[in-house]
Amino acid sequence: MDLVSVFEWDVSNWAQATSFWSRHLPADLTGLQALEVGAHNGGLSLWLALQGAQVVCSDLREPVDRGRALHEQFGVGDRIRYEKIDARQIPYRRHFDLVVFKSLLGGIRGSAGEEAPLQVTRSIWEALKPGGKCLFAENLAGCAIHRFTRRHFVPWGNQWKYLAFHEIPLMFDPFDSLDWEARGFSGLFGWTERSRRVLGFLDRVVFDRFLPKDWRYIAIGVSGKSDHRKTGAGATEGVREE
Ligand SMILES: C[S@@+](CC[C@H](N)C(=O)[O-])C[C@H]1O[C@@H](n2cnc3c(N)ncnc32)[C@H](O)[C@@H]1O
Repeated sequence: MDLVSVFEWDVSNWAQATSFWSRHLPADLTGLQALEVGAHNGGLSLWLALQGAQVVCSDLREPVDRGRALHEQFGVGDRIRYEKIDARQIPYRRHFDLVVFKSLLGGIRGSAGEEAPLQVTRSIWEALKPGGKCLFAENLAGCAIHRFTRRHFVPWGNQWKYLAFHEIPLMFDPFDSLDWEARGFSGLFGWTERSRRVLGFLDRVVFDRFLPKDWRYIAIGVSGKSDHRKTGAGATEGVREE
């Protein structure tokens, strides 16, 4: 599978999310309904559709232009439709088997305030069917050197409010299960994709084994909604609410 088209940047570290997620998924996703929020170019929608899922690819504006070109290039355009969805207010209840996002919560916290990430995860929980799963890959604050680098060298680094390591379980409080790991220490410092690939290799074989977990800058995980808990009052099964 073409993970460069899925992740685009710092692929060596971020693409580890797919093997982590796959451990929680059936080998074939045919028949599953999936939603990507904050999709931008729709890389994760591509990954899901290539495995057979029917996908709604969404962002604050319909990510249709770049998304469709990518998805048609890989022959899965017929499995993906595009919608404009604010991840804090997903207009579906108990509809999806999978909801996926990458690099979303820190940006929303920076632009919409402290409560916004929890609004997103609550909204995802509501949109999932009982037994559904949220797959995520999110930036972490990492250690002081990551914070310094982002503040001074990443153009959007001051607009984001990156999640701290200890905040990940708090963000998934609405869910019934959470399995997650932190990855990556040096990949963030690469200036080119080639250098990030080398640093990502070092992360996997050295740094991720020996450095403290809360020094890492990527959280990857799967959070589950149990199939026997009651969902929100007035929830309507399997429909988009207008
Ligand atoms: C850093 S980009 C990540 C894009 C893509 N997920 C990726 O990892 O390549 C953050 C994305 O979140 C989207 N976004 C910001 N606020 C949002 C919201 N309230 N609801 C849905 N998407 C949002 C932005 O439009 C942008 O596409």
